[in-house]
Amino acid sequence: MIHADFTARRFGLHTAHTSYWLAADDAGRLLHLYYGPLCRTAPALPPAPHNDPGCWPDRLPQEYPAPGLGDNHAPFFAPEWPDGTVAGDLRFAGAEVTPGKYALPGLPAFRDGDGAETLRLTLRDEAGLTVTLLYGVLPGCGVITRAAIVENTGRAPVTLRGVPSAVVDFAKADVPALDLITFDGDWAAERTPCRAAVRPGVQSVGSVGGIPTHAHNPFAVLCAPDAGEEHGACWGAALVYSGNYRIQAERTVAGVRLSLGIEPFRFAWTLAPGERFTTPEAAFVYSGAGLGGMSRAFHDAIRRHLIPPRWADLAAPRPVLLNSWEACYFDFDEAKLLALAAAAKDAHADLFVLDDGWFKGRDADTTSLGDWVADTRKLPGGVAGLCKKINALGLDFGIWVEPEAVSPDSELYRAHPDWALHIPGRETLAIRNQYVLDFSRDEVRENIWQQLTALLDSCPVRYLKWDMNRSLANVCSAALPAARQGEVYHRYVLGVYDLQQKLTARYPDLLLENCAGGGARFDCGMLYYAPQIWASDNTDALDRQMIQYGTSFCYPPCVMGEHYSTVPNHCTGRTASVEARMAAALTGTFGFELDLTRYTAAEIEALHPFVQFYRDHGALLRSGSYYRLAAPDGKGAVWAIAAADGSEAVVFAAGAPLDGRRQPLPFARPGARYAVQALYTGGADETAHAGEALAAPGLPLPALRGEVPGYIAWLHAQG
Ligand code: DGJ
Repeated sequence: MIHADFTARRFGLHTAHTSYWLAADDAGRLLHLYYGPLCRTAPALPPAPHNDPGCWPDRLPQEYPAPGLGDNHAPFFAPEWPDGTVAGDLRFAGAEVTPGKYALPGLPAFRDGDGAETLRLTLRDEAGLTVTLLYGVLPGCGVITRAAIVENTGRAPVTLRGVPSAVVDFAKADVPALDLITFDGDWAAERTPCRAAVRPGVQSVGSVGGIPTHAHNPFAVLCAPDAGEEHGACWGAALVYSGNYRIQAERTVAGVRLSLGIEPFRFAWTLAPGERFTTPEAAFVYSGAGLGGMSRAFHDAIRRHLIPPRWADLAAPRPVLLNSWEACYFDFDEAKLLALAAAAKDAHADLFVLDDGWFKGRDADTTSLGDWVADTRKLPGGVAGLCKKINALGLDFGIWVEPEAVSPDSELYRAHPDWALHIPGRETLAIRNQYVLDFSRDEVRENIWQQLTALLDSCPVRYLKWDMNRSLANVCSAALPAARQGEVYHRYVLGVYDLQQKLTARYPDLLLENCAGGGARFDCGMLYYAPQIWASDNTDALDRQMIQYGTSFCYPPCVMGEHYSTVPNHCTGRTASVEARMAAALTGTFGFELDLTRYTAAEIEALHPFVQFYRDHGALLRSGSYYRLAAPDGKGAVWAIAAADGSEAVVFAAGAPLDGRRQPLPFARPGARYAVQALYTGGADETAHAGEALAAPGLPLPALRGEVPGYIAWLHAQG
């Protein structure tokens, strides 16, 4: 609910358990007052430093600070005027509350629904800029969203050299100390949480690689130093964006300023009089119940308001797929694929996905990206011929593409060398032997669109994996003049969104899975178009615990692409038990990623109970509340997904915790009695426990031997 006092110019944004307050002071400066537990009474304005609100803007908690006129924080908003100055003086000019949540043209954003509302605040700089701050309230999920629209209302061009989506000032008086948690890593090791106290000065994460990259994620948390999984104050901030970004925390004598938005490096957007720029959206959650509560709020909002509505019915079954990558890489022909598909069918999969290597000449990663036509040496009947045979086996068909990439050795590149991002006079960097297509250009996207629709119209393709195996470099568009090259990174992202929007509109039932060399573009922006993203190329049962654990701070497990793979693992060489590998894979969008033709009929049959487990409990796994019970430490972890009312849950464990210890389950209902059915290869066992005992001292985990043992159990309250 939005509380708006238009006379006093105070505004409260309330969700079920949280409030966010802001107000304009007498000078018209928009100040941040409060973000915390539900509080229906407007807090007082902060005392004006030196009794003069015109002084010391540096010390005032602000909602959309501008540089150059006394605010000495590290600037993010940077409007450059025709005289070469960079400054802003934004004063309150109006407010409006409307039912429903705003949408952003051409950009992904959390969707309307469940009583959402919008607050629009207008700020004006008399020199010729109007900034409209958009606030969305998703009351049921506890999420506040923000975005800004900057309009040139003057008579001369203004160049934006930085434009944050949102800034939140945490006053030192309210929050004396804060920790910052970011999610960092590498290829095959994405999104490891990294937590440290916010020190004086600026700490930031971000990307200049055109996509978020493996190194960081566009999500961060500020929290009280004592905050843990189930207690303490936490503020999570996610950027709904898939390109260059920055999340920056700055501690000054006044407190901590959190800013997030498009990375200012190489961003320059000139607004002619009357033109507007819309920032990507930022989404915030406050939780007084620790990091677990914060994550569960984001999970709810992503499932209910972000992923495509077509996939929002979490009770509807999702296909169990087999993906051909780790089974064959580039080395296959139709006979091999059909044998693999037959084995997938034997394993009770629903859908066969043909990964990389199917288009003409693609026997290695050195060639052919951009030429999306089947290699008839491998597929004599083309994609349609293979699809027909896969369908005849009783499986649906899916396929892999990498639409943004082009190989130097491709017909597309030979015909249109200027379609690749390229800085004239410099050698174009090939990463994984490929260039990046200039998706800021309509004609480039149109060519790829024509190729994609030809592929998707040629046969019933039920699933599409959209990959992107490199970051951007040599960023320069042959279609834009020198003065507008600062637009290219952002226009590129808008181009990706445009194509995914068209794709999902034309093929509403196509299950789209995003991917970027594993999880280099795992963000809220991509989730607006695809309900799942491949989390990492590392499918090792132990490493996956950390990747999925870190990912879960913002993103629900049901959007994480997770597959059961072979041993020794192709990334790590580690041999983990079937149960541990299944535990990692069953948590998210379950599938297979291994050459099942090498398995005996008995070995494949042993997988059936796990596939059945996914079918039986898939609705709970997709819709339930996620609990990080024992954090992964490289040796093991425990996690669970529970129904909101605690009536049932799936508990997973792998590695060291399986030493007979007890695991407290915070969601267990004290008055209930639970049956606990554990699933093992070749069997199951059932025990019963009082809910009170499961809450504390906890569920007795078995003592299991082996390099990486695993445990998967379904608990349900009886009576
Ligand atoms: C990277 C992806 O993460 C893999 O799953 C696979 O699709 C390869 N690319 C194919 O090149």
